[in-house]
Amino acid sequence: MAQAPTSTTIRHEYEERFAGSLAVHGRSRAVIPGGITHDGRHLKPFPVYVTRAQGAHKWDVDGHELIDYAVGHGSLLLGHNDPDVAAAVRAQLELGTHYGAGHEGEVLWAEQIRKLIPSADLVKFTSSGTEATLLAMRLARAATGRTTIVKFEGHFHGWNDYAVKGEKPPFDRTPNPGVPEEVLGTVDVLPANDPAAVEARLAQGDVAGVIIEPSGGSWAMIPLLDGFLARVRELTAAHGVALIFDEVITGFRWSPGGAQARFGITPDLTTLAKIVAGGLPGGAVVGGTEVMQYLAFKDEPGWNATKKVRHPGTFNANPLSSAAGVTCLRKIADATVQEHGDALAARIRAGLNAALERRAVPGFAYGESSVFHILLGADCANRTAGDLRVPEGVDAATLKGAGGSLAGPLQIGMLLEGVDLFNSGGMLCVAHTEEDVDHTVAAFDRVLARMQDEGLFDTAVAEQARR
Ligand SMILES: Cc1ncc(COP(=O)(O)O)c(C=O)c1O
Repeated sequence: MAQAPTSTTIRHEYEERFAGSLAVHGRSRAVIPGGITHDGRHLKPFPVYVTRAQGAHKWDVDGHELIDYAVGHGSLLLGHNDPDVAAAVRAQLELGTHYGAGHEGEVLWAEQIRKLIPSADLVKFTSSGTEATLLAMRLARAATGRTTIVKFEGHFHGWNDYAVKGEKPPFDRTPNPGVPEEVLGTVDVLPANDPAAVEARLAQGDVAGVIIEPSGGSWAMIPLLDGFLARVRELTAAHGVALIFDEVITGFRWSPGGAQARFGITPDLTTLAKIVAGGLPGGAVVGGTEVMQYLAFKDEPGWNATKKVRHPGTFNANPLSSAAGVTCLRKIADATVQEHGDALAARIRAGLNAALERRAVPGFAYGESSVFHILLGADCANRTAGDLRVPEGVDAATLKGAGGSLAGPLQIGMLLEGVDLFNSGGMLCVAHTEEDVDHTVAAFDRVLARMQDEGLFDTAVAEQARR
């Protein structure tokens, strides 16, 4: 899988051993802006290009086998090419990919979602998570007759114009080129974990909806403190504000019923994507009958023209995504898949922290459920706890710094060891094994040693001091 590190620098070795990816990237840059199709794949000196994947592993154009912690950006809870999902998609291909009409598959899919997600009386499909959060915010506004959406610092809800404010530090003035100021003015960004701020804002009476990642921003990168979600639920209910859980990542991963089932807190609206469509394109908004009725045509005079929320979409609930989604959701309905991922993620978090401790390197690994994040170059007070959920004494902006300037070298260092992190962390799936995790921890230890040898930690600490 991995070759022994050489005496050359991480970067030089990467350029040599991943020459095939460099060549594809060169061609890509000529036809695709910056050569990448998702901003999250930005990596210096160039990203890796993959040819095939199976289970928890994938193979790049140079023939390296990589343990995959991106797993379809979190959509492949069953791993790559789950045999049942693949068979369902193949069978559907024979029957057609788009009927320009309703089909039973979409009904089965909605029925399965309703079985699992506590807040789901009705389900409306979209083609992505970005579309789902856009639709949920529109529904909240239509149902309440108010305009303002409240979101939280560092929480990611896709790339629609209403979702982007305050996503990256500095949270109070994230530049958003191309998004009209008027639109940004309809969204207010609050610090998470500050119930008094939420209470004061909702008391002004103009808030339509509060949207939140129930894991905390960027799948638990900025953890929520105990009690915050429950307090937000109380406050939104008291002020007639729609509470939207963005469960694009947490849905079906935090538990078969998502974060809402794991934490026992039921939102008014929930956005889903990724796992919901079994790793194919797709998303959904689900919620109670009253609010979801705004999407339905009615015979009531004037309703369709003035009250109904418009929602077309060519590929909504397309037969291929429906087939994959139904099959996947049936397979993850008891909690065994989630328990496997959670146990391995706890093992990896503890292993990574032990390596950092041993090498006396500033940094920590943390997370919850089946995910982990690594932040190098900063310290937290409780690293010795091993499996860490909330790093103590680290602010949201630092956590959202996504690994700082050391994230890139770590990522390419790990690629040299046969491990593809998802930025500076990762997600587990049912196909990962203890062997994968132990290999990853050992690889991390070797990469830390190389980064120490190259003086990268000294440079990062000096950079931080300059800021
Ligand atoms: C919490 C959350 N919401 C929304 C989105 C956007 O989903 P999509 O990439 O399908 O548009 C993402 C994507 O990663 C996400 O993590």
